[in-house]
Amino acid sequence: MQVGYWAGRRVFVTGASGFLGSHLVRRLVGLGGHVFAFLRPASETQRIADVIDRVTLVEGDLFDVKSLERGVAVARPELVYHLAAAGVAPDCDDEQLVRVNAMGTLQLLRACAGSGLLRFVYAGSCFEYGEGSDLAESQPLAPTSVYAASKLAGHAITQAFCHRHSLPWVSLRPFTVYGPWERTSRLIPHTIFRGLKGEDVLVTPGEQERDYIFVDDVIDGFLLGGEHPAAIGRTFNLCTGQPVKVRDIVCQVLDLLDSRSRPVFGALPYRADEMFRQSGDNRLARSVLGWAARYSLLEGLRLTIEWYKGIACLGEQGGEMVRPCRE
Ligand SMILES: NC(=O)c1ccc[n+]([C@@H]2O[C@H](COP(=O)([O-])OP(=O)(O)OC[C@H]3O[C@@H](n4cnc5c(N)ncnc54)[C@H](OP(=O)(O)O)[C@@H]3O)[C@@H](O)[C@H]2O)c1
Repeated sequence: MQVGYWAGRRVFVTGASGFLGSHLVRRLVGLGGHVFAFLRPASETQRIADVIDRVTLVEGDLFDVKSLERGVAVARPELVYHLAAAGVAPDCDDEQLVRVNAMGTLQLLRACAGSGLLRFVYAGSCFEYGEGSDLAESQPLAPTSVYAASKLAGHAITQAFCHRHSLPWVSLRPFTVYGPWERTSRLIPHTIFRGLKGEDVLVTPGEQERDYIFVDDVIDGFLLGGEHPAAIGRTFNLCTGQPVKVRDIVCQVLDLLDSRSRPVFGALPYRADEMFRQSGDNRLARSVLGWAARYSLLEGLRLTIEWYKGIACLGEQGGEMVRPCRE
């Protein structure tokens, strides 16, 4: 990364209250960036509570065109990171997915047109590929869910709009991200909480393979995607390239916790649209951006476990959006 690149940079971040967005905001603030965090009026800000006094909050909604125009006019951003999305938590109907992830992206892009942006960074998803191993960016895209299709639509809209309006864009496709502040209903935090309480962990048979990547590594990729001159107009996977079975992740977390909890594989059914293999090829990000994952799975899990232990006193539900007890 270029030393000093972010100092004083005006950066507009959508999804700033979310899992990845909050990590990105914290890193940008630490690097001296002037962050404009685009938040909905009801967005919880606990994930960025430690840096909130060093961030400019911009209230709005991807559905509210005026708020986007106002936000971009106030921020006059040099870079936009578009991380806001519906469907990472499975609580959305299909229409909402398309409205937020496709239409919302278009509306943000419209607000940015003509603003002299240095870069528009789109947070895509490995789900755009559908199922497969060693998925490279050149792979045909074959989404198997409406969430995945809506993320792909957001990517395609970004590419087409930016082409027409001469906006420099980058698309980043994280694989399965884990780390502090991931919502507690997701596999790793859920296993940690159950493991800490010594309760059985009810899971599917767990034969699915995923490419787990620690959140700090993903944020490294986001920063490089924002600053590297060769990134413009390209799409990059952010993944380790190492597929791991869900059942192995559960066992490893419980081992690291030295927990008496038992994993009960097969207690839950697979999803109707389950993907059994998904891992990526990270050679493009390595060669063009000089990016590499810094954390092994073991290191990433250890850090994640330590962080969740700090909020364990609050319980699985209470820990969803609160600050750790030990800070
Ligand atoms: N987590 C992963 O493993 C993963 C993997 C691949 C790709 N991604 C992509 O990375 C991005 C961030 O994911 P995440 O895990 O951080 O998701 P997340 O925790 O669910 O955060 C989603 C963010 O989007 C905001 N948002 C939703 N609807 C909005 C709207 N109508 N207007 C404005 N903001 C809205 C949410 O605001 P509220 O706080 O108000 O709800 C929240 O800040 C997403 O684009 C996702 O597709 C994530």
